[in-house]
Amino acid sequence: EWLSTAPALQYLLLPLHPKHPTLLQTNCHFFLVLMEFLLQVKNATNQIVMNCADIDIITASYAPEGDEEVHATGFNYQNEDEKVTLSFPSTLQKGTGTLKIDFVGELNDKMKGFYRSKYSTPSGDTRYAAVTQFEATDARRAFPCWDEPAIKATFDISLVVPKDRVALSNMNVVERRPYPDDESLVEVKFARSPVMSTYLVAFVVGEYDFVEARSQDGVLVRVYTPVGKAEQGKFALEVAAKTLPFYKDYFNVPYPLPKIDLIAIADFAAGAMENWGLVTYRETALLIDPKNSCSSSRQWVALVVGHELAHQWFGNLVTMEWWTHLWLNEGFASWIEYLCVDHCFPEYDIWTQFVSADYTRAQELDALDNSHPIEVSVGHPSEVDEIFDAISYSKGASVIRMLHDYIGDEDFRKGMNLYLTKFQQRNAATEDLWESLEKASGKPIAAVMNTWTKQMGFPLIYVEAEQQEDDKVLKLVQKKFCASGPYTGEDFPMWMVPISICTSEDPTCAKMQILMDKPELTVVLKDTKPEQWVKLNLGTVGFYRTQYSPAMLESLIPAIRDLSLPPVDRLGLQNDLFSLLHKQADMQEEKNRIERVLGAISQPELIQKVLTFALSVSSLPGAGLNLLQFPPGSSEPGKSQIEENLSELRPN
Ligand code: BES
Ligand code: ZN
Repeated sequence: EWLSTAPALQYLLLPLHPKHPTLLQTNCHFFLVLMEFLLQVKNATNQIVMNCADIDIITASYAPEGDEEVHATGFNYQNEDEKVTLSFPSTLQKGTGTLKIDFVGELNDKMKGFYRSKYSTPSGDTRYAAVTQFEATDARRAFPCWDEPAIKATFDISLVVPKDRVALSNMNVVERRPYPDDESLVEVKFARSPVMSTYLVAFVVGEYDFVEARSQDGVLVRVYTPVGKAEQGKFALEVAAKTLPFYKDYFNVPYPLPKIDLIAIADFAAGAMENWGLVTYRETALLIDPKNSCSSSRQWVALVVGHELAHQWFGNLVTMEWWTHLWLNEGFASWIEYLCVDHCFPEYDIWTQFVSADYTRAQELDALDNSHPIEVSVGHPSEVDEIFDAISYSKGASVIRMLHDYIGDEDFRKGMNLYLTKFQQRNAATEDLWESLEKASGKPIAAVMNTWTKQMGFPLIYVEAEQQEDDKVLKLVQKKFCASGPYTGEDFPMWMVPISICTSEDPTCAKMQILMDKPELTVVLKDTKPEQWVKLNLGTVGFYRTQYSPAMLESLIPAIRDLSLPPVDRLGLQNDLFSLLHKQADMQEEKNRIERVLGAISQPELIQKVLTFALSVSSLPGAGLNLLQFPPGSSEPGKSQIEENLSELRPN
């Protein structure tokens, strides 16, 4: 484990509260900081090792409580490891003390650490704002520190800035006074933060306008925009003011800070970042021009705001133990953002979008041989960036959605509350969440979830029905689904699959819910008449594909045609059929049947999705376009040919 190879951490316990950074001056390129850490030396040592990158230390000293300070005599930078070792001429004894470091850092143009962001004033002048982006491991570019998520501390931050600039940080301002040596500057002091991880610290200095509101639960919410564009912050303000009470109520845990700022940054590498109390966004993820905007950009802003505000609890109040659990942080936020937007804007019908965007995409990627498990162990933090991909976000969100459905909303909320209150201001691992949910639900959560997070891929469920008097007997078999053809691996991966089953009696309500925990399973659907159809995966919530027996598939056609099957169910069915079509290329009869089912989908927007899907599949290696009549080995058809084929599927 990376932590134990960092010798300093064996000597140093929590930095109790780093009083940093007092930013003395920023011109365009450098900043100077005087920083104090209150820390505890766990075992006597004459070295302190910290994370540090592109920083020049001027002086460093350590003063044990009630004793004289000792100046460090050596600063040994290990640039590769992004570390610095401070060497002291005498031994620092066990106990608490104050570490002071003065240093110069670079206000860089790399969009990480503490960086400069270029903007133009309404009159056309070019100016720079100073902005931070620390996740995953770039806090060390702004100040020497311990930026692993499990090392939490409180922060006292003051900034010295030109007096006409806005200065923001995680907490509210408690004092603003003229700076003694230079009357063009002010010193802005922020309240002490709660115990938090360093990667969530943020500060911004620049020129901004804002709009503000107080959420119904008393939190001051501001949206900061470029000068002259305050109007464009109003939509995000409305979303944030609705979202905070939603999460407070959902988790039954209040938002822990007195304020939250959301700010649009002109140069921003990610989409948004959940810094505690000061969330940073790329402009397109926060600003809405009330006169010129489409509903899809409003939906995007609502989702991003919902995502980052969810992290204020899930991620910030309770933080992952190590980057291995990052998928849970991101997967959870990527699921609950939809729950939140669905609550605040039911008219968006946002879950259909989840299925057509995240769920479908995750299945496409995860069916490839080069996919990977959601949970990957992270050794060195430099590996972190690699794991922020669609598997951790979209598959992560999809399996949390399935889990929420399996547990049921009431117990799920109970479990979330248990987890957030038990681990608040601390760190937790994926297993800790499973344990809380297990307690709340009495269901085998860890066993189920391990099959989804620790192995790549997902199952294809074959299903067949046999009528026995008034009952239908279903036979289910699960096998790994592969885009390239039937699974031929030597092992037999298995999943614990929560499966819901509905019938034509009520297509919107599960007649039966089972946990498929073995390769094959027989279930009896009582009182299901011969003329009733049966469908699996209600709401397209389960992360699997279904292959129905010919008779079962045929029986679904009327429900597709008369639209009694809800849209997400039709969408799921259609995705499954398309993915299966190429596997049946040699079976003319099956192919015709599938085409007839697809042909029954008579809505133009669904046809459009079919088209998009087919075009995206054509770019997948191996998956090819065989599904649309081209036998393996024949040359790949052009897109026009695909369209032609699809137009044949279109109803008149
Ligand atoms: N914590 C991430 C941002 C992040 C990602 C920081 C990778 C460092 C490395 C944030 O919560 C996030 O997920 N942002 C998304 C937008 C979100 C709505 C999916 C992003 O930036 O794409
Ligand atoms: Zn996130």
